[in-house]
Amino acid sequence: MRQPIIAGNWKMFKTRAETSAFFDALIPQIQDVEHCDIVIAPPFISLATAAEEVDGTRVAISAQNLHWEENGAYTGEVSVRMLLDAGCKYAIIGHSERRQYFGDTDEWVNRKTRAALKGGLQAIVCVGETLAERDAGRASEVVRRQVAEGMAQLTEPDLSHIIVAYEPVWAIGTGRTATPEVAAGMHAEIRKIIAEIQSKAVADTIRILYGGSVKPDNISALMKKEDIDGALVGGASLDPASFAAIIKYI
Ligand code: PGA
Repeated sequence: MRQPIIAGNWKMFKTRAETSAFFDALIPQIQDVEHCDIVIAPPFISLATAAEEVDGTRVAISAQNLHWEENGAYTGEVSVRMLLDAGCKYAIIGHSERRQYFGDTDEWVNRKTRAALKGGLQAIVCVGETLAERDAGRASEVVRRQVAEGMAQLTEPDLSHIIVAYEPVWAIGTGRTATPEVAAGMHAEIRKIIAEIQSKAVADTIRILYGGSVKPDNISALMKKEDIDGALVGGASLDPASFAAIIKYI
């Protein structure tokens, strides 16, 4: 039985005051929720505020990125130790915006993932093809490479702390969600790849989230699919009412 996860990725939105206001509005709406894990990923500067706000609730806090070194002369970067200190339990790694705009490679994704796991964070590792790659019939090949290289050198116990997020780039922030069938097809394929590179047991237990224009009105259909274990939500996670509605998809 894979416990579903609904995770919100705020990207570069919300100050600390806006973070507090969000949780003041969200928490009362989700008091009774037990069917899924709930995660929010604010910008670095608001992590500690967010962690204080969710203390004693079922909501966990995630970083949106990290550096793999513990300390050092890496201007602008934040280490796993700092994220733990701020109250993080998860880290998003290899988001397509990091890959597209900030040069994250599969090798970096692997280094960041290993650093996150070593420090005790749960890693949400993002994969997904661009529109050009899909149109060229290369979606499977790209996702296979991202999964295999991003998760290289990981042991079976490591993989129990990994969550994969399949986020087709053409569906992110575009309002163009992958249909539940397209998403579920790729999720099944990702599970097959993990079975090949690790084991069937790992593939059967690893949680695979869908991301890309998830909204209150499309979440239920996505969650009905066997291989979709949750969602990574961008835009619709910024508003407490719409994020609460997504969390309460059943
Ligand atoms: P979106 O973003 O829900 O706004 O499409 C998803 C993501 O990038 O994680």
